[in-house]
Amino acid sequence: GPVLAEIAGGSALDIGFAVAPELLDEPEYREIVDTHASLVVAENVMKWETTERVQGQWDFAGADTLAQYAREHGKKLYGHTLVWHSQLPDWVAALDAPAMQAAMEEHIRTQVEHFKGQVFAWDVVNEAIDDDGTRRAGSPFQATLGDGYIEDAFRTAHEADPDAQLCYNDYDLEAIGPKSDAVYAMVSDLVARDVPIDCVGFQGHLTGGKLGDDLQENLQRFVDLGLTVRFTEVDVRIPTPPNDADLAQQAEDFGTVVSTCLAVEGCLGVTFWGVTDRYSWVPQWFPGYGAALLWDEDYATKPAFDAVVEAVGAG
Ligand code: G3I
Repeated sequence: GPVLAEIAGGSALDIGFAVAPELLDEPEYREIVDTHASLVVAENVMKWETTERVQGQWDFAGADTLAQYAREHGKKLYGHTLVWHSQLPDWVAALDAPAMQAAMEEHIRTQVEHFKGQVFAWDVVNEAIDDDGTRRAGSPFQATLGDGYIEDAFRTAHEADPDAQLCYNDYDLEAIGPKSDAVYAMVSDLVARDVPIDCVGFQGHLTGGKLGDDLQENLQRFVDLGLTVRFTEVDVRIPTPPNDADLAQQAEDFGTVVSTCLAVEGCLGVTFWGVTDRYSWVPQWFPGYGAALLWDEDYATKPAFDAVVEAVGAG
């Protein structure tokens, strides 16, 4: 059958999957990643709560497993994520400002240096902006360090690996509106002041049938700043159990994401946030919704897979 990474033409468009390293032991899961991915990213094992659960004690076991897999199979390795308010061990939030600043810089330095030469791009700061476009007040970094933690994080990551691409990553950025406007303003300011930022990740956690018609225009304005963009965490949730109409709508949405990326020079790839509906994060977080990926719970391809094949092939 059609192979996504091949149709995408080598490195012309990265085809990524979020991977849980332990699931690579499951033959059907492994086969899909082996076959279709040109890029992998850790769904969880590179997050702070895993890599530095206790201050100064590092656990890269899961991440190293994924890194080794990527090396041995010729996949690009994307880094997710360095500074995020979620999946953050409690000790971080308890620090005062000087100690938190030092801990953040040390975390970034240690993790970036560990994967230097292999992780080609990092989500340096994840989800720093709230839905209304204000800074996320609930983030311990925002609350304790203020706005400046973002540029400090980028500068620290750049010092640790000057060759890595450094990205800001967030959800609900697809439409032009208060949140994407705020991210646009923030990254414009970073670019204007020569803060080392290279890219913006549009997560793309979508609900079927909700994509507006300004996605391309929105991506383009970020590219016009001199940044690259990519879709970093795409899934399209629909009511479960899925019916044919919703599966068709979902397929259309996946196709739109891919063809929009292909239409924008500077949109470098599309990463799907998981392989199979069997292990997707969605049902646990959005009860009544799920079936959000390209393969169903039994590893059968869905209409969405065919739509992605068609869209990638058309580009
Ligand atoms: O690690 C524990 C494990 O010890 C325990 O046995 C198990 C029991 O529930 O829970 C495990 O933690 C889970 C963790 O994933 C690791 O598997 C949490 O319950 C679960 O809530 C957590 O969910 C992850 C979520 O981020 C947390 O924020 C999802 O798998 C992951 O897909 C999701 O990914 C995020 C991106 O990083 C950022 N953008 C949004 C996206 C979706 O929320």
